[in-house]
Amino acid sequence: MLARVATFAIVGLDPRLVWVEVDIRPGLPSFRIVGLAGAAVREARERVHAAVLNSGFEFPARRITANLAPANLPKVGPGFDAALAVGLLVASGQCPPEALEQRAIFGELSLSGELRPCRGGLAVAEGARRAGFGGLIVARERAGEAALVAGIRVAGVPSLRAVADLLAGGDPPPEPEPEPPVDATGDGLDLADVRGHELPLRALEIAAAGGHNLLMEGPPGSGKTMLARRLPPLMPPLTRDEAIEVTRIHGVAGVHRRGGLVGARPFRAPHHTISASGLVGGGQVPKPGEVSLAHHGVLFLDELSEFPRASLEALRQPIEDGHVTVVRSQRALLFPSRFTLVAATNPCPCGFAGSERVCHCGELELARHRRRLSGPLLDRLDLLVSVTRPTAEELQAVSRTTSDEVRGRVLEARARQRARLAGTPASCNGQMDGRLVRRLTTASVRAERALGAAYERGTLSARAYDRILRVARTIADLEERETVELEHVMQALALRQHDEDDRADAA
Ligand SMILES: Nc1ncnc2c1ncn2[C@@H]1O[C@H](COP(=O)(O)OP(=O)(O)OP(=O)(O)O)[C@@H](O)[C@H]1O
Ligand SMILES: [Mg+2]
Repeated sequence: MLARVATFAIVGLDPRLVWVEVDIRPGLPSFRIVGLAGAAVREARERVHAAVLNSGFEFPARRITANLAPANLPKVGPGFDAALAVGLLVASGQCPPEALEQRAIFGELSLSGELRPCRGGLAVAEGARRAGFGGLIVARERAGEAALVAGIRVAGVPSLRAVADLLAGGDPPPEPEPEPPVDATGDGLDLADVRGHELPLRALEIAAAGGHNLLMEGPPGSGKTMLARRLPPLMPPLTRDEAIEVTRIHGVAGVHRRGGLVGARPFRAPHHTISASGLVGGGQVPKPGEVSLAHHGVLFLDELSEFPRASLEALRQPIEDGHVTVVRSQRALLFPSRFTLVAATNPCPCGFAGSERVCHCGELELARHRRRLSGPLLDRLDLLVSVTRPTAEELQAVSRTTSDEVRGRVLEARARQRARLAGTPASCNGQMDGRLVRRLTTASVRAERALGAAYERGTLSARAYDRILRVARTIADLEERETVELEHVMQALALRQHDEDDRADAA
């Protein structure tokens, strides 16, 4: 007898419908899986065999062939187990076939017959709805994530036995838990903990308000990491669509363990030893990289100068385009990557150049450090600030800035931007391209003249010019002004001083 069960393969971030066909006929007992199955899928034979027996069913001692269609789509991972087992039960008459017509099944099996959670519950539920299925059966732990998709009934079940009971007309399990409340304020990380640092705090506020990329340079222990961690809670809470996107990506990458909707903006801080493909995505079976895990959130690169050149170069496309394209077997896979980049670096290898302490670096080391930081990546950063050692007086004083207060200003500035940017692909100033900046930014004559003069001095690239205009736009938004004035441009220039000095030094 022949049975057919629907399940899904995830290619990049896309769910693709896969039909598991199981045929049982007389002959020497065997169990074959065909249809471009990866190693984990071939191993499914052993798991399915044990799970079927241990769930109290009979494993037919006949010739069994399972085909995964379409045959040209590579299938990897253990998510096909449940569909294979159910196909086998139906083909051997141990489970009624009718119940499968409107349902898809997705999950891994343990030897004892438990249904285990697999990556990508949300993506699979979206695929099932798009393919017109009315119901989806997944492991209990994935039900909350899958149930975020409206228009499809999700049943979270614990075991193969429970799947069979459900298909035989048993009561469906209780509806998955409602979404947990969204906590967007971080783990109690507040700007009030930061002492001194007037300029870096201002830069952080501007970065949050306009979605601008930021580089902080300063000696060890001056508070760079501390500042970066406090950025995501300053940004507006994720909208529902953004949260769904983040949940989909994190679910497929296997970093979303809690189930339900991701509430807070992502904060990703990969170590500098990460490979280029770990950073931007890719690999044999293409997976989202850190830039995509940071989508709609913050990517923090600490010790920027320690990252290998190749990794930093690979960041250029995702920063500029907001997505990464990975090409595998003639298929282009798209991973979104709209993130705010925050980078931190010591001013030199020993960390103390330009501070009160003696710097022990040689000329060569200094030059190497500079070279690593200069160039195309630096050009893509909007804000470049020095984080100096706070004075004793500042450290002992009570901080005046709180995250709540800054968040309030950021929200208002974002609302102004949204209104202005309605109908464009950008949703904040940091996402405007050169054309959009010039079209939507009205600057006073004095402001334009100051910017022109800075450009004439020759230390800015044309790209940096646009970036300064964007930052000035955000500063004006924070001050609730529609026209960019001289003071806004001056502030934006001051927040890019670092590269001017640097290039002057280098000249
Ligand atoms: N401005 C500050 N106000 C209050 N605490 C501070 C400040 N700067 C540093 N600290 C304290 O020092 C600790 C270390 O700071 P942090 O890790 O942010 O330094 P860093 O600049 O990232 O150093 P490194 O270059 O070594 O990575 C913080 O956790 C905090 O307790
Ligand atoms: Mg640090």
